[in-house]
Amino acid sequence: MGFFLNFMAHPTFFLVLSLLLIPASTHLQSKEQGYVSVLLSDKGIDFAKNMLIKKAISSMIPLHLPDIKKSVKIPLLGQVHMVLSNITISSVRVASSSVETGEMGIVLVASGVTADLTMNWRYSYKSWIVVISDSGDASVQVKDMEVGLTFTLEEQDGSLNLSLLDSGCYVKDMSIKLDGGASWLYQRVVDAFEGPIGSAVENAISKKIKEGILKLDSRLQSLPKQVSVDHVSAMNVTFVDDPVLSNSSVEIDINGLFMAKDNILIPNYYYEGLQASDSSNCAAKMVGISLHENVFNTAVVVYFNAGYMHWIVDRFPNQSLLNTATWRFVYPQLYKKYPNDDMNLNVSLTSPPVIRIAENNLDGTIYLDVIVNVLDADEVIPVACVSLVIRSSCSPQILMNKLAGFLKLKSFTVSYKWSNIGDLHMRLLRPVAFAILKTVFLPYVNSHLLKGLPLPFLHGFTLKNAEIHYTNSKMMICSNLALT
Ligand SMILES: *[C@@H]1O[C@H](CO)[C@@H](O)[C@H](O)[C@H]1NC(C)=O
Ligand SMILES: *[C@@H]1O[C@H](CO)[C@@H](O)[C@H](O)[C@H]1NC(C)=O
Ligand SMILES: *[C@@H]1O[C@H](CO)[C@@H](O)[C@H](O)[C@H]1NC(C)=O
Ligand SMILES: *[C@@H]1O[C@H](CO)[C@@H](O)[C@H](O)[C@H]1NC(C)=O
Ligand SMILES: *[C@@H]1O[C@H](CO)[C@@H](O)[C@H](O)[C@H]1NC(C)=O
Ligand SMILES: *[C@@H]1O[C@H](CO)[C@@H](O)[C@H](O)[C@H]1NC(C)=O
Repeated sequence: MGFFLNFMAHPTFFLVLSLLLIPASTHLQSKEQGYVSVLLSDKGIDFAKNMLIKKAISSMIPLHLPDIKKSVKIPLLGQVHMVLSNITISSVRVASSSVETGEMGIVLVASGVTADLTMNWRYSYKSWIVVISDSGDASVQVKDMEVGLTFTLEEQDGSLNLSLLDSGCYVKDMSIKLDGGASWLYQRVVDAFEGPIGSAVENAISKKIKEGILKLDSRLQSLPKQVSVDHVSAMNVTFVDDPVLSNSSVEIDINGLFMAKDNILIPNYYYEGLQASDSSNCAAKMVGISLHENVFNTAVVVYFNAGYMHWIVDRFPNQSLLNTATWRFVYPQLYKKYPNDDMNLNVSLTSPPVIRIAENNLDGTIYLDVIVNVLDADEVIPVACVSLVIRSSCSPQILMNKLAGFLKLKSFTVSYKWSNIGDLHMRLLRPVAFAILKTVFLPYVNSHLLKGLPLPFLHGFTLKNAEIHYTNSKMMICSNLALT
């Protein structure tokens, strides 16, 4: 029943809110910045506006208005009591709408609005001692109505506070049609009820707008400060600073860093490194979503801390690589001591990968320790350990609302860490390490990266024709939007 209730029932808030936006004064300099910013271009603002109007109408209809009663003195008949009841606005159409931002707030205007109303009429009067009465249906079309609202939206303790500054609804023209009734009735109803019906429509819609804004505001106040990404991680979606309005775009900043669900804190240094946002060049698309590299860095810290970056490799495309026989030149003593034994590799990242936004993709540096285990008569015997530093590039891809990636090897170094039985031939080890990276490590990592990371603030929307640009430690997804 609420004006915005249906709309808010699905968590589309960020994007659409961007529209409702506006600080009390236009400012470009913000005090704190988010690691994730959502920037609506004027195309995006338009999309959000149209969606908002559609949702508002569908949640408002049918709208019941209070009965209207009138007593009218009519020559020859005397005092006639007329009542309109069961007055219902059954449909509303908006011919045109506009949204403007200014010093006073954001102004949303819908004009050329038409509305269809149905109602019942009845009248009665006393003729001598008999009461004469009649009743029937009527339909009214409000042919030209203008609806406008002005709001502000400000950040307060990490939430957004929406307040309605002003709203108005003006009925300019209507036509009334009665079914049945005496011929004198028509003009009387028009004369007596045109004004009251107009006011009733204006009041009902204004009231709905006020109720809707209050509901939307309380919904905003109760938005979670973090949104779950999966069973391990969540994103901090605390709003930082007032939405930033510029000429033709609206920017909303959220903290955007990942955090563990068990609330193990992310090291503070991920909270540094933000540069001024360069309210950027997505003008051709509806929305620009800017992600700072620390969004990715905190994500990998969370998964690293949760133990997701350790694994045992005991199967290979070419299983002979996991037999000591294959290693007899690389690691002769091993072969001597354990001829023809199966092996496995205990692979662990020694620290979270370091991710940097590069010119055309993401650069990732990965620090790995690989412990070589021999499986000898049900015993797992660690025999040696090497360290790898892998330089890789990751090409991000948008899959629906997920950000996926594809990792490629750029270069790597292998170094000796320890061995329990004699030396490894490092020079010969390198091709083996390469084979392991190529045939096992990268495919494994890519099988996860290609599943994608959900962008938790995009619920309810799908990205369409997304492009990715890279600037100043940030990646910008420029995209159109469609409702999911
Ligand atoms: C009131 O109007 C609705 C449709 O506008 C109609 O379905 C309903 O029957 C009406 N109720 C009465 C009591 O006439
Ligand atoms: C939101 O802002 C209005 C006006 O600035 C203020 O009166 C109101 O108390 C604020 N609401 C909250 C929940 O802080
Ligand atoms: C704002 O808009 C006006 C006219 O639309 C334009 O002339 C001006 O350059 C714009 N300013 C900025 C900062 O984009
Ligand atoms: C979430 O982000 C806000 C704003 O940057 C910050 O104040 C808060 O400490 C963060 N919460 C956690 C749990 O890191
Ligand atoms: C598997 O690896 C071994 C040792 O590197 C090699 O000799 C053999 O040809 C490989 N087999 C296949 C099917 O690639
Ligand atoms: C793998 O190696 C790590 C040390 O890097 C060790 O803590 C862990 O127990 C090993 N896991 C297995 C299954 O051998």
